[in-house]
Amino acid sequence: MSSQTIPVEPFDYVVFGGTGDLAERKLLPALYHRQVAGQFTDPTRIIGASRTEMSQKEYQKFAHAALKEHVKEAEYDKGEADKFVNRLNYVSLDAKADRGWDELKKILDEGTENVRAFYMAVGPSLFGDISERIRDNGLITEKTRIVVEKPLGRDLASAQDLNNTISSVFDEDQVFRIDHYLGKETVQNLMALRFANMLYEPLWNSAHIDHVQINVSESVGLEGRAGYYNNAGALRDMVQNHLVQLMCLVAMEPPASMNAKNVRDEKLKVLRSLKRIDTKNADKMTVRGQYKAGASEGGAVSGYLDELGEPSNIETYVAIKAEIENWRWSGVPFYLRTGKRMPNRVSEIVVNFKAVPHSIFGDAGQNMYANQLVIRLQPDEGVKQWIMIKDPGPGGMRLRHVPLDMSFAESFQSRNPDAYERLLLDVIRNDQTLFMRGDEVEAAWEWIDPILTAWEDTEQLAQTYTAGTSGPSQAIALIERDGRTWYDHE
Ligand code: BG6
Repeated sequence: MSSQTIPVEPFDYVVFGGTGDLAERKLLPALYHRQVAGQFTDPTRIIGASRTEMSQKEYQKFAHAALKEHVKEAEYDKGEADKFVNRLNYVSLDAKADRGWDELKKILDEGTENVRAFYMAVGPSLFGDISERIRDNGLITEKTRIVVEKPLGRDLASAQDLNNTISSVFDEDQVFRIDHYLGKETVQNLMALRFANMLYEPLWNSAHIDHVQINVSESVGLEGRAGYYNNAGALRDMVQNHLVQLMCLVAMEPPASMNAKNVRDEKLKVLRSLKRIDTKNADKMTVRGQYKAGASEGGAVSGYLDELGEPSNIETYVAIKAEIENWRWSGVPFYLRTGKRMPNRVSEIVVNFKAVPHSIFGDAGQNMYANQLVIRLQPDEGVKQWIMIKDPGPGGMRLRHVPLDMSFAESFQSRNPDAYERLLLDVIRNDQTLFMRGDEVEAAWEWIDPILTAWEDTEQLAQTYTAGTSGPSQAIALIERDGRTWYDHE
């Protein structure tokens, strides 16, 4: 089976921070793949913009190198790469001064009919200046959109400031806030599983589900991002956005349709139902951890503090017992955990069903396990439904727990597109379903803020764990206190 692609209308993508890391590693390669897939309609252009002085030729060279480096060898095609770089323009401009804006306007004026997307691949402190210059230089057309990415604040107050800054120039329906986890193939499959099948939805509630686990583990460490990371920590970096968004998609009521308003309204209701975690209960409901030296990715690795070179209580691991106080989920905990320097890179959602009410199997039923639905986001995207069956063969009734296992790579034999490929073109299609609305971002911070405050007020320490292990022992205790265990993916 192969996937189908439908071309989008011609567009101009202006990437502020066009020479930065995100453009190089993600944005240019993602757009290249979409061109190869035949989704571009001419005259489509990509315009890199940044402070760096560079000619168009030099930018094309930069893009060529980015594709060579970040597109898999088997997917790299010299002819396509040449065609791609021919779409590129470059403008050297100053976000805080007039330099370069006339030139950008001149280029954009050649394509007034094109959809116009401004991607802010820059720090949030520049969002305001750039937005105002876009407006003041008359660059906003009817088909203009703006794309922003985290960090979308570091607490509720700063997120509100950011939203106000953006909304002073753009309407909410022009703003695309990226959470790249929403663009992952399996995350969208979660919605297909829930709402395109009759099987699960009737069971999707506290009567049949015992608890849910969401695990996003990474084997990497700081990756040279100390400046950003030590100001954020895993709660801000991963939980406030990616894990909370996943939880919303698992927990939301069925939206009336897949349109952006309906989906985002339902997610918002989940966020507003989250039980508050604060000074009174943070020590029971949360664990923060920090890795120390150990072994990972096939070799010895330093601890967080050694990488950082200074003392810090910032967490590289978080486990949280979240509770959603509404009719559907009352009494069903959502255990969230994420960490760096874990044994493997794995992201998955595990829906744990309740045990059968009564076993008819006598002694053979001693090996009875509850059903689990495992939605694997990465690597090896797929879905596993664990069920009980009879062990095949004669010899009486013996029961066995086995997975109905579907690996997407094997079943569909198509390449798994990077999340950015989907999201970048959703902007052009003007589909905000997989993007966060301003009120969602704020509601997520409303839940996170009291946790941050509690950690500060109670001086909750980041518990150490050895790099290459699966987190501090306190995180095991967090779930085992409730008579449950973390799902072990192997
Ligand atoms: C980013 C975080 O949002 O997500 C990083 O800032 C993290 O710290 C990354 O490594 C993980 O994304 P993925 O797609 O590799 O799971």
